[in-house]
This record gives sequence, C-alpha cells and structure tokens, in this order.
Amino acid sequence: MTLIDQFHRPLRDLRISVTDRCNFRCPYCMPAEIFGERYQFLPKPQLLTFEEITRLTRIIVRLGAVKIRLTGGEPLLRQDIERLVSMLDALEGVEDLAMTSNAYLLPQKIDVLKAAGLKRLTISLDTLDDEIFRKMNGGRSGVDKVLAGIYAAEKAGFSPLKINAVIQRGVNDHTVVDLARFFKERGHILRFIEYMDVGNKNGWKMDEVVPAREIVERVHAAMPLEPVASNYFGEVARRYRYVDGGGEIGLICSVTQPFCGSCTRMRLSPEGLIFTCLFATEGVSLRDPLRAGATDDELEKILRQTWGDRIDRYSEIRNSLTDEMRDQRKKVEMYHIGG
Ligand code: GTP
Ligand code: 5AD
Ligand code: SF4
Ligand code: SF4
Repeated sequence: MTLIDQFHRPLRDLRISVTDRCNFRCPYCMPAEIFGERYQFLPKPQLLTFEEITRLTRIIVRLGAVKIRLTGGEPLLRQDIERLVSMLDALEGVEDLAMTSNAYLLPQKIDVLKAAGLKRLTISLDTLDDEIFRKMNGGRSGVDKVLAGIYAAEKAGFSPLKINAVIQRGVNDHTVVDLARFFKERGHILRFIEYMDVGNKNGWKMDEVVPAREIVERVHAAMPLEPVASNYFGEVARRYRYVDGGGEIGLICSVTQPFCGSCTRMRLSPEGLIFTCLFATEGVSLRDPLRAGATDDELEKILRQTWGDRIDRYSEIRNSLTDEMRDQRKKVEMYHIGG
C-alpha cells in the first residue's frame, strides 16, 4: 500500500545531505560572519557512514521513494562521495540518482562520479558577473571555477545540466537575461529560484524577493517564452520554453506560488535526522535507534509514522505569518538539509 501523509501526498523523493560543510559562504545560506573559522560543524563520528545511509535509503525506497538527490552543504567535500554514489546506484528501485553541487571541485571528481553511476547533476550559479558572484559566495570563487566544473560535466556526458540561480533584488536581478542567454546557447536548463526564508541566519526580507513572474517577463522581453506542462506530478520548477525552439528554463516560486500541495520530498540530514519539510523546526532521529541496534522493520515503522503524521505546508502559510512569528520559528538551516 502506498504510504501517504495527512494531505494524501505520497513519498517519492529522498534528499540526502551528506555534510553540513561548504567551501562557499553564500550570504543567503551560510553568511561568513556567522560561519567563520571557529564555527563548529558536525564532528565526524556524528555523521552517518555510507553504510548507514545506504541501509536507511534501502528502507525509504521500499516505502516509495524513487528519486534520490545528494546535497549538502557541498556534497563533494564528503570524502570518497563516489563510493556512496555507487552503493546507492546498486539499490533496487532507485530510478534517479542526482546531485546538487556548487561545482568548485567538480573537474577533479566528475569522472569518478560518472563511473560510480551518478545520473544527473544540478549546479548552482547565480550570475555570470564575476564581481557580483564573488559577493554571492562570500569571496570563495570566481565564475571561472564554476564554468570549469560545468565544462567538465558536459565533457563527461552530463547534458543537459540543470543550473540553479537564486535571485535577490538589488543583488543579481539585473543579470538574469545574460545568464539565460548563456545557458540557452549551451543547451542547459536554467532555473531561477525565488530567494527563500530558509533557516534563521540569512536575514531574509520579503522585499529582496523577485517574484518569478517578473523574472519571466524580463527574459521574455529579450527572448520570447511560452509555458510548458510539468514533466511529472510534483515537479518543483514551472517550465517555460523559448519560442524559437532553443530549450527551456524553470522558475522555482516557493514564495509567490507555493507548491506544498504536491510536495513528496523527505530529507535526511548528515547526522541521520529525518525532516519532512525544508522549513521544519525539528527532525526525527534515525541514527539513534540505528546505532542502538534497531532492525530494518523497527526503522521502517519510525519512517512510516513520521511520513504518516506529516502536515507540513510552510510555504503556503508563510504569508500569513508576521515577521516576528517567522523570526521566532527556529528552522533548520539550508546548508544542513540541502536545497
Ligand atoms: P529535478 O529532480 O531535476 O526535478 O530537481 P528539482 O526540481 O527537485 O530541483 P532541485 O532539487 O535542484 O531543487 C531546486 C531548488 O528548489 C532547491 O535548491 C530549493 O531551493 C528549491 N526546493 C526544492 N525542493 C523544495 C521544497 O520542497 N520546498 C521548497 N520551498 N523549495 C524547494
Ligand atoms: N533561497 C533560495 N535558494 C537557496 N539556496 C540556498 N539558500 C537559498 C535560499 N535562501 C539554493 C542554492 C542551491 C540550492 C542547494 O539551494 O543556491 O542552488
Ligand atoms: Fe554552500 Fe550551496 Fe549554501 Fe552556497 S548555497 S553556502 S554553495 S551550500
Ligand atoms: Fe514541501 Fe515544506 Fe517546501 Fe512546502 S515548504 S514544498 S511542504 S518542503
């Protein structure tokens, strides 16, 4: 019987964050003034091992998940990540195995990832303007490094790629057309993401959000677009294609057009907590029972209960919250459970 939550949403996707560390310091995710030299990331013994992740994934796949995405932090910082990729690829029932990365370390990792069975890659790049990009990653990388990762991925056969760009008003919104043109020419799918109030550390304000409709209008004025139907139930991005046949873009409008009604995503944190929403305040530990010797059936029971009880729909209620209510809610951070 299909496992569904309180709003009849099935479990279809598992997003696994393999580390809380990142080599970038994007102010909208890990502001450098908070995540400095002395910041305490999770100590290694607390992280799930690859064997533990694979065991939990096997159970979660049995409960209905068919799409798996590895995220972080930055997943390529986890040592020998390709070993986990091949362990997950070997699981029966996994139809899709993808990764979201900032691409900085991709040139040295791409061949082993491909060989291990990684199917798809999403790369984050917010602008092609080098000065603005440096500001948007806390001075950790130029555009050239990310492009080198993109070219390496193309060469290894990961095409089309998806490119994620977070858009912030007054920061990079004037560069969206350049970004769109560049990836149209290279045949990749660029997705513009509305800046979100994930976590409590980025100082999010509604007036920094550029509504997706405005982004579409800007791109459409330069290169005409038309809407396209979703590829599958619950697809996060709204799709538009270029009228001239030159590919498509996506808009991820969590703020102005929330998509909680079809949210089928479960998230597993690096230390083995299950989160049923990107904006959750608490997770359910699987690591503790797992390390205390729980059987697969016992772990499955916890997972069934957690998904069965699920009532999350944060993005749909966001607008009814005052700034104060939002600040008081202690949400999990994005770098901790991935995008
Ligand atoms: P595909 O498997 O290629 O369809 O990927 P996807 O559309 O799930 O894309 P990806 O995993 O790259 O997600 C893109 C971005 O959308 C993330 O980085 C988040 O910023 C945002 N996002 C993804 N899932 C959710 C979600 O459940 N809630 C909210 N609010 N935002 C999400
Ligand atoms: N709002 C929207 N997207 C975000 N990401 C990280 N923080 C935010 C935020 N506050 C995106 C990154 C990356 C993905 C993992 O999540 O840019 O593409
Ligand atoms: Fe790192 Fe991605 Fe967060 Fe930027 S958005 S700090 S690249 S995890
Ligand atoms: Fe899913 Fe929560 Fe995002 Fe809504 S806000 S789409 S419930 S993760």
